[in-house]
Amino acid sequence: MSWNPEQYLKFSDHRLRPAVDLLNRIDVAEPRLIYDLGCGAGNVTRLLRARWPKARIIGVDSSSAMLGKARGASSDIEWVQADLADWVAEAPADVIFSNAALHWLDGHAALFPALLGNLAAGGALAVQMPRNHGAPSHTGMMEAACSGPWQGLLQSRLREHPVAAPEFYWDVLAAAGVRPDIWETEYIHALEGVDAVVQWTLGTALRPLLDALDEPWRSAFLADYARRMAEAYPRRGDGVTLFPFRRLFVVARR
Ligand SMILES: C[S@@+](CC[C@H](N)C(=O)[O-])C[C@H]1O[C@@H](n2cnc3c(N)ncnc32)[C@H](O)[C@@H]1O
Repeated sequence: MSWNPEQYLKFSDHRLRPAVDLLNRIDVAEPRLIYDLGCGAGNVTRLLRARWPKARIIGVDSSSAMLGKARGASSDIEWVQADLADWVAEAPADVIFSNAALHWLDGHAALFPALLGNLAAGGALAVQMPRNHGAPSHTGMMEAACSGPWQGLLQSRLREHPVAAPEFYWDVLAAAGVRPDIWETEYIHALEGVDAVVQWTLGTALRPLLDALDEPWRSAFLADYARRMAEAYPRRGDGVTLFPFRRLFVVARR
């Protein structure tokens, strides 16, 4: 899947807020080794650096485009290109942080205990994932994907429920011997500009679908999706589009 840091960072102020909310719930005083999994362009990793100036911080991501942007902005953080599906820490970590990334991976029942297993005693796993896949921004994507001649090309790339219910993460982590702190927040993002929700998903969930299409289907699929978004999220008289977005947070101490 191709990532475009410029498109993703168009809404960096909105996307940063849940990362800050997650960071504020990590109660580890002086971590020595911190990982940021799915670090992307590194703008959240830099918040980790600001909070813990003395720690060794490693950002891990599979996208060379995202890591290229990250490397250009920070030299006091190590950047590693790797797939999180089989990632293992170099040494037991004091903090494993992941903002808006793990919903791209399957198999959370095995993934979360495996991440816990990469923590040092007393370390914290802190994860935020979008859980709005039942919202029109995503159901509209499914509907548009299944309503045209492109259906066969897109079907295998649709991920209907990549993030489970909070109870699932409680059970998985409790079975691994910890009692996590779990909460959800629905942010009401006030987006500026034309086709704001399409611009938002162009930086994330739409990417694997658009990657699969050539012209003229690419533009036709996008126009179908944009029409659905204009109906579901009308731009208000003041020019703002209100975009409710639910996110799931999990913090677990080993
Ligand atoms: C939505 S961005 C989030 C970036 C950053 N954490 C932030 O909050 O701004 C998701 C990132 O996860 C990365 N990612 C997705 N699947 C991955 C995988 N299997 N292995 C490594 N990185 C992955 C993508 O390359 C992308 O940079």
